[in-house]
Amino acid sequence: MGLDESLPAHVGIIMDGNGRWARKRGLLRIEGHRAAERSIHEAVEGCGERSVGYLTLYAFSTENWKRPSAEVSFIMKLLSRFLERNVDDLDQNGVRIRATGRLDDLPEGPRRDLERAMKRTAANDGLHLILALSYGGRSEILDAVRRIASEVSRDELSPSELTMGTISSRLYLPDVPDPDLIIRTSGEMRLSNFLLWQSAYSELYFTDVLWPDFRKEHLFEALDDYAGRSRRFGSLSRDSDN
Ligand code: FPP
Repeated sequence: MGLDESLPAHVGIIMDGNGRWARKRGLLRIEGHRAAERSIHEAVEGCGERSVGYLTLYAFSTENWKRPSAEVSFIMKLLSRFLERNVDDLDQNGVRIRATGRLDDLPEGPRRDLERAMKRTAANDGLHLILALSYGGRSEILDAVRRIASEVSRDELSPSELTMGTISSRLYLPDVPDPDLIIRTSGEMRLSNFLLWQSAYSELYFTDVLWPDFRKEHLFEALDDYAGRSRRFGSLSRDSDN
């Protein structure tokens, strides 16, 4: 948490409901994904206005690869187009673009565009905009465990030394604080493999608004709701590390 404890330092958003938004209008599902860009803008702007430090958007899960290939290709193209169209503006506003997930799974074009955008904005000190791409919480924990196992097998670590911190520091973005608030749109009430390790003490906020209809006012409603909650992390302190 930052200095103002009523503000979340890190907000995660599960952007859900694009398909239903499109169906309600008699459109193809992909039109729902296309319409999602405006909502992303609103979320980024809103976080900037409220001095949120980190915004993680669940853009593509490890499970989303199972969707029809035309939809997957469309989302990947949308990612490239989003970066191409917005990187100047985000850069000028001090936003640092980052990503989390099995990024090697991404097709070469979008991966290159992402790397370019991350490099270009790496020195910015405003909002960290983190795109979760080919991301799964279980995969992230599994990848951390694999790293730890190989360090143990090389005698660089001993099992008796392992702590919670050993795992946290081997996640994809160890410098990023745990999300204080996770928002999910479209009325579904589950985490769907999003930031599983990091969400242990996150406040959860669910709204019926479909992602393409999500606007700054909806973000502010969630932030206001968060400000009214009392967080105890299971005790008086959150820093137990064993
Ligand atoms: C959930 O809606 C949305 C997704 C699985 C994909 C999210 C993708 C975007 C927001 C566009 C990507 C853009 C960038 C810039 C990375 P759903 O399709 O599951 O909706 P439904 O539950 O109503 O079917």
